[in-house]
Parts: sequence; structure tokens; C-alpha cells
Amino acid sequence: MLSMTNSFNLHPNRDRVQQYIETLASMVDETKPGWTRRPFTPWYIQGRAWLQQQMEECGLDVKTDAGANLIGMIEGTEAHLKPIMIGSHTDTVVGGGRFDGIIGVIAGLEIARRLKETGTTLRHPLEIVDFTAEEPSEFGISTIGSRAMVGHLSPEMMQRTDQAGLKLEDGIRMMGGDPEKIAELSRKQGDASLYLELHIEQGPVLEQSNQQLGVVTGIVGIHRYRVIVEGKPNHAGTTPMNMRFDALTGASELVLELENLCRETYADPVVGTVGKFLNEPNGANVIPGRVTFELEVRSLDTDIIENILDKFSHFANHVATYRSLDIRIENLSKADPIRVAPSVLEKIAQACTAAGNTIYLPSGAGHDANQLATIAPVGMIFVPSRDGRSHCPEEWTEFEDVSRGVEALARALIEFDLS
Ligand code: GLV
Ligand code: MN
Ligand code: MN
Ligand code: MN
Repeated sequence: MLSMTNSFNLHPNRDRVQQYIETLASMVDETKPGWTRRPFTPWYIQGRAWLQQQMEECGLDVKTDAGANLIGMIEGTEAHLKPIMIGSHTDTVVGGGRFDGIIGVIAGLEIARRLKETGTTLRHPLEIVDFTAEEPSEFGISTIGSRAMVGHLSPEMMQRTDQAGLKLEDGIRMMGGDPEKIAELSRKQGDASLYLELHIEQGPVLEQSNQQLGVVTGIVGIHRYRVIVEGKPNHAGTTPMNMRFDALTGASELVLELENLCRETYADPVVGTVGKFLNEPNGANVIPGRVTFELEVRSLDTDIIENILDKFSHFANHVATYRSLDIRIENLSKADPIRVAPSVLEKIAQACTAAGNTIYLPSGAGHDANQLATIAPVGMIFVPSRDGRSHCPEEWTEFEDVSRGVEALARALIEFDLS
């Protein structure tokens, strides 16, 4: 029997991969910096329509599921086998780049195209998925579509509204989903054979170690909270320093404490960030009356995240007491960390090694794979990010490297399909 390495015939078309990425990069909100395509916006819908058309041209049977995920499917030759899924996302952060998420969906598309061009059939059904709204949204949730697919989008989450007053369930409906059916149609353990995702690393490790491909060993868990600090707005000139209830100075202590806790408490990597912050009324001569901010903590170990948040909340109580402020901490979302199964790691490493220089590394970014891991084994492959930059317009990966990642993903697909 020929080894897979010799018989592999799904080499991606590098120029086509580039064209696909550039086409999606032209469907962006030009009033925002970088390559911004926020979910539930005209640019997102335009990207989806283009993607659907491309999927259909590749011979995929395309549908939108209850969580508004766009899914292109090819039948397998063995009816009893559950699908192998390849997925990622096409939404971006505000001021984001052209690669985060996008290359994972494009990889699926290019693989489907190569299967068609070469007349290759798989034993398993194959599903290529563009998951709805993976990035943090105004609803305080990320990975909306993959949560919905595995039954982790709660009715409470679907009632949340964004700043424009759009209810999440209406957004899902607008994208062709069916919020009433999300729970009933959600996939359960064993409903998929495997989930695979190609992604940019979004960090410096591959580039600095001169490696072309990364086998992802695990993905951090992410806990997000909203903190509301209520003080008393008042005149900035007439209110003596000892008679103020300044929400911003109180909130500032909390922001710095989160940084200290994450810096100093553990040898294991743990990161904490306040990336969203609102000061009200935000006037030069008004003592801040209310501050609302969102914080997240990430680690490969849930106990560490919980311990940090425990300490943070004790500190918040202390600040509330001595400054006479009202401080509330509301949970927004929790995603558990995952470890990739050794058997999956081994196959992915083989596939990657056949395509380029490969190392193992963990993911500090969250992915749809965190959600899919609750119903199926998952595997992820990383390609290098220039200067380790991501979530910014400078985000860049050479098309050569993206293409190598697509090849590794295709090799992994073939290996898993045979087993
Ligand atoms: C998603 O990109 C995340 O890791 O926040
Ligand atoms: Mn991403
Ligand atoms: Mn991202
Ligand atoms: Mn992500």
C-alpha cells in the first residue's frame, strides 16, 4: 500500500487561496480601521453570500443551521459515519486583520475545491463551517455560532441586546438562523467524528523559532465579567477631595489589581485584560459617577482563572467599602480550556511534518474549537503571524504559509478519514 505522504494529491492552489482571502478583505466596513467585518452587519452578510456561492461552486450542499452557522456539506461513501468538520469564522474585531478566522474557512473551501477537482471521495461526510460571530460581541459573548451548535447559547444570552438595540435572537434570525430551534437541534457528544481548524498563531512563537506549522496542544479557557462601579457625579471644582465618591479612581484600582494578580500570582501563564472601558458622564469638570468595564482572564487551568477572580472580587469588596462605592461584578461568559487528545496530536503532527517544519504549542487565543470540544475530538493547526501581531490591521501571514497550513489540514483530513 502507498503511504499517504506519497499518494497525497490535494495540494492547495496558493494563488486561489490568496484570491479568496483578498476577496473577503474587500468586503469590509470602510468607516472603521483595518479590515473590519463585524457580525450582523451588511459586510458580514455580503461575505456570507459570497462564501455560499463559492461553496456551491465547489459542489457543497449548503445550508444555514439554527445558530446561523453557514455549513457546506459533502456526502461520504460510508453512510454510518459521523461527519468530520472543518471550520472557523469570518467576523473580525473592530480594526482587525485579514487572516484571523478567515483562513480557517478558506482552508475548508480550498480543500472542498481540491476534492472536487481530483474526484477524491471521503468515507466520512465533510462539513465546512463558517461559525457565526466568533469574536467578542456587544452581547458580551464570543463564539456565538459554535455555542449554539453544541447547545451552549442560553435563552438568557439570546435576549441580550447590543448598543443599537438589536436582540441577539433577532440577529441570528436576520442571518438565516432559527433561535427557537437552537436547543432542540443542538449537536450532542458523538454527533461529529472530529473537528479541525486552521488558524493564524496570533503570537510570536512560530516566527521566532523559525517554524512553519504549529500543532496546538491545548486552548485557554476564558472567563469574562462586566464590572459596574457606581459613585456620585458631582462638581469637580467645589467638592473637596475627602467628600468625593469617584467611580473612576475606584475602577482604576481594580484595573491595576487585575494586572498585578495575573503578573505576580502564578508561574503558569495566566493573562488578564481590561479591554473595554466606559467612564460616565466623561466630562472634564465632573467627578466620574459611573464606570463600566469588561475584564477577561485566560489560562489553560480553570482553577487558576477562578482563583484570580476570587482574589479580584475580594479586592473589589475592599475598594467598595473604603471608598463608599457600589461595585457589581456580573458574569458575561465562561469557556473551558481544552487539551487536545494525544491520538489527535500525533496524527496532526504527522500531517504537519509532511508539509513543513513543525512544533507543538498551546493557544492563548480562544477558538470555536473550545465549544466543539464538548461534542467531538478537536485538532488545530497554526501558521506564523508576522511580528506576532493580531487583532490589529498589521496582522499578516504570508500566503505561502497559509497555503502550507491548508496542505497540512488536508493531509490531516485524509489521515483521519482513513482511520
Ligand atoms: C478571539 O479571537 C479571542 O481569542 O479573543
Ligand atoms: Mn479567530
Ligand atoms: Mn480573533
Ligand atoms: Mn478567536
